Amino acid sequence: MKALAVTPGRENSAHVTEIPEPRLDLIPGGRGVLMKTLQVGVDATDSEINEGLYGQAPQGDNHLVIGHEFFGIVEAVGENVTNVQPGEYCSCTVRRPGPSLFDKIGRNDITSHDEYYERGINLRHGFMTEKVVDDCEFVVKVPVGLKKLGVLAEPVSVCAKAIEQAYLAQTRLQVWKPRLAFVTGAGQIGLLTAMMLRLRGLEVYVIARTPNPGLKEEIANGYGAEYVSTQKESMEKLVSRVGAPDLVIEATGSSRVAFDAMRFLARNGALVWTSVTGGKNLLNDFPSDSVNLEWVLGNKLLVGSVNGNRDHFNQGIADLALAEVMFPGVTERILTTPIDGFDNPEVIMDKLSNDKSALKVYVDVASAEE
Ligand code: BGC
Ligand code: ZN
Repeated sequence: MKALAVTPGRENSAHVTEIPEPRLDLIPGGRGVLMKTLQVGVDATDSEINEGLYGQAPQGDNHLVIGHEFFGIVEAVGENVTNVQPGEYCSCTVRRPGPSLFDKIGRNDITSHDEYYERGINLRHGFMTEKVVDDCEFVVKVPVGLKKLGVLAEPVSVCAKAIEQAYLAQTRLQVWKPRLAFVTGAGQIGLLTAMMLRLRGLEVYVIARTPNPGLKEEIANGYGAEYVSTQKESMEKLVSRVGAPDLVIEATGSSRVAFDAMRFLARNGALVWTSVTGGKNLLNDFPSDSVNLEWVLGNKLLVGSVNGNRDHFNQGIADLALAEVMFPGVTERILTTPIDGFDNPEVIMDKLSNDKSALKVYVDVASAEE
């Protein structure tokens, strides 16, 4: 069967290749789930992989099948699978366990091992193929009523984890009732995070470079958040207008913005970094003394957050469903840019890097009916 692969470390190497079809009996213990791929989303991580900046092939291979945002339909299950049935829609988590204690308790998302194993990204082949097989531990059911948003299950799990981590870490304060949140970045992670924070009752500002009016602003407004283009108002000015944020979730993909956000956090606040920056940029004009002082005197918290485990997928899926009731029809507006099949990798990569109007690029691999 066909798959879309890259040669990690080599620029622009995305190519269609032929790989063996997965089989249920490849997964031991009757725990296998065989799935047909319906859609696979792509994001900045896939661009970085195709630029040769990020990602590694599985040991013994020199190619990596990409694709980590999976949405599919179950075709067959092993005799010990209870969480999904044939005909049901599903997504898959991305990380696979390593040897650390955290992996042993199902928390691959916080592995302490030097290597991390991620399908479609690092050391494990991904989902940009016609069929997929996996252990039921890593398969998450998507309710049929949410099938048009199923391709967002993985991105929304990343947001669910980032928010959960902030709230868990803030139990250090004994009481934390955040009122004001800034979300930096208005890609899929920024917008979905804004949605989830609105569902939790926060006043939310989505801050990004893209000028408004435009789709990003419309989606943010649809969720009841305000969109702030830094072309019109700097973060500094925003803080003097609305106050310092109790919570900042950073999702721009820029380490400069990640550090800059440290300057604006309220006392006792939490800043969550989610950007994966594969580049080599240096910052040499950062006001480190004043930030250090403010952070110490203000008991502020910085937490990095990556990936999401099955609980985060379930939380994210539940919030996608609630958002359909609270903000009907808004989330599907994120799904701007479908691509028919993965036969033309140049088109996928070009849309990802160069199409400014593409908020979410995803590949329609097959339809459920075929
Ligand atoms: C993926 C995460 C992954 C991270 C780091 C992101 O694009 O969505 O699942 O953990 O990259 O590789
Ligand atoms: Zn991703």
